[in-house]
Amino acid sequence: MTRRRISILGSTGSIGRNALEVVRRNADLFSVAVLASHSNVTLLREQIATYHPELVAVYDEKAAAALRDSVPGCAVLSGPAGLIEAAATPVDTALCAVVGAVGLEPLLAAIDAGNRVAVANKEPLVMAGDYIMERARLNNVAVLPVDSEHNAIFQCLQGNALSDVDRIYLTASGGPFYKSTPEALRNITPEQAMRHPTWDMGAKISVDSATLMNKGLEIIEALCLFRLRSEQIEVVIHPQSVIHSMVAFTDGSIIAQLGVTDMKAPIAFALTYPERLPAPEMRLDVTALAGLTFDKPDCEAFPCLALARAAADAGGCAPAVLNGANEEAVTAFCAGRIRFLDIAAVVEHALEQCAVSTVCTLDGALAADSVARACATSIIKTMEQ
Ligand SMILES: NC(=O)c1ccc[n+]([C@@H]2O[C@H](COP(=O)([O-])OP(=O)(O)OC[C@H]3O[C@@H](n4cnc5c(N)ncnc54)[C@H](OP(=O)(O)O)[C@@H]3O)[C@@H](O)[C@H]2O)c1
Repeated sequence: MTRRRISILGSTGSIGRNALEVVRRNADLFSVAVLASHSNVTLLREQIATYHPELVAVYDEKAAAALRDSVPGCAVLSGPAGLIEAAATPVDTALCAVVGAVGLEPLLAAIDAGNRVAVANKEPLVMAGDYIMERARLNNVAVLPVDSEHNAIFQCLQGNALSDVDRIYLTASGGPFYKSTPEALRNITPEQAMRHPTWDMGAKISVDSATLMNKGLEIIEALCLFRLRSEQIEVVIHPQSVIHSMVAFTDGSIIAQLGVTDMKAPIAFALTYPERLPAPEMRLDVTALAGLTFDKPDCEAFPCLALARAAADAGGCAPAVLNGANEEAVTAFCAGRIRFLDIAAVVEHALEQCAVSTVCTLDGALAADSVARACATSIIKTMEQ
């Protein structure tokens, strides 16, 4: 395997740390050229000392200033422009693993620079997926999914024609509140929502998993990555999280991808595709797999899933509204300003109130994002009273 030069945007987060662990275990195969984070310079300083990047970007200006004088030999950029410049630094693969819509412009910058992109940061794909995929096509850049479900689907599709796909089964653990009634969901705390039963992840995606919005975002992500129709994507609750997703073909065959619940596996696959990294520690003991179960999602108790499906079906910039409103609602929930069930109410309100373009352009997505955030912010204020 040839040595790969990589950048990691969001290196201090859950995905970023897992990616650096893959690098550490395979030090002869990777060189880390770029790291980027928002403000966690304590961890970033340690990462710089271990992986010796030539450049880092710290979004927060003050945090960047605090780091600048203490890392000789490493350029420290800052602010939105610094993150974009970091993304555009030439590498073999840019791992996009910041959280939220803020990753959209860096992702496009990486693509325009001709960097192959491994995408964990799903929010930009939700906001403007078709636009991003077209820009990747024009730049002849591969977009490799890191999200475990999409990585699984990507693997199941190898050697198969998309025209032979009947449907995709997107598996979901069900989150920490699987089988809970709406009454029980009323008093969920942020701490409870962040405790995912099978995956260890950052705060925002953990809350999204608890509301099932994460699965809704993944429907939209799958639509653009694999060019499918909405009715071809089915969500299946699979609490054991052993099957990461399945593809059903027109001849009735179903191909599934199984593995341990460890994001290092899809990250490594995306970084080394089409080759595979030996990882004996990732071996799944299939003889220990007793009772894999499957269930239908409860869209009444978890309305975010239906809201996401509706936004996907509306198309255009509706998914950008869904995403922007959800980001605001999750932030407010984590800050204790609104309740768990208010998250769906905020998103529903934004989808009803925001008139947006029916065509997905970059400007349209950015405008929809900002209209949705303003709308969400104002309804959140009324909920706090
Ligand atoms: N975690 C998973 O297992 C998983 C699985 C599938 C998909 N994903 C997706 O991957 C993305 C990252 O998730 P995560 O769980 O790793 O999140 P996380 O643990 O919260 O980490 C987020 C990372 O992004 C950085 N960041 C946030 N805002 C930034 C900004 N404005 N500029 C630069 N860096 C910024 C953070 O830096 P600081 O540390 O300095 O704040 C941190 O490094 C999300 O879109 C998520 O949906 C995650």
